[in-house]
Amino acid sequence: MMYFLKNALERQAQQEVLVGNDFDRAMEELQQQVLQEALAYYSAKVVQEFYNPQNLGLMLEADGYGRVLGSCGDTMEMYLRLDGGKIVKAAFMTDGCGATIACGSMLTQMVEGKSVKEAAAVTPEELTEALDGLPPDHAHCAILAVDTLRAALEQRPPGDDSIEMSQN
Ligand code: FES
Repeated sequence: MMYFLKNALERQAQQEVLVGNDFDRAMEELQQQVLQEALAYYSAKVVQEFYNPQNLGLMLEADGYGRVLGSCGDTMEMYLRLDGGKIVKAAFMTDGCGATIACGSMLTQMVEGKSVKEAAAVTPEELTEALDGLPPDHAHCAILAVDTLRAALEQRPPGDDSIEMSQN
């Protein structure tokens, strides 16, 4: 996603310096340009989740926590609050790309209300489908999100249902 912003800013820098209403208009045009370039590469759902992520943030006193380093070198953390064997709240943080933010946002929404066992069965393919697809070079972002969820589920406190992690 940063690629689009960088391109747009470089193009903007080649133009004259603008002030006041011209500046506001130029910023609006720039935002539209960035959005259009993102939509040419990602699905509308990915772009929507990236620009308006849900459940992005830390959770104090989480019942489950996982942190995973992805194959690309980016990291995701996930926090779970459980009640009666169900996920009542999920949150995530990441230093990864826009697609990863979209994955964390969508995945945390998908698992809220699910049992631990149901959440552990969610696959990267299901997450990718929920986002209406990911570009092939970002398929690993969904894997990172699901691996992080599973790590958070594994760290749940003793006493919850025991589960077997499914293989990708
Ligand atoms: Fe690293 Fe998306 S490119 S998580």
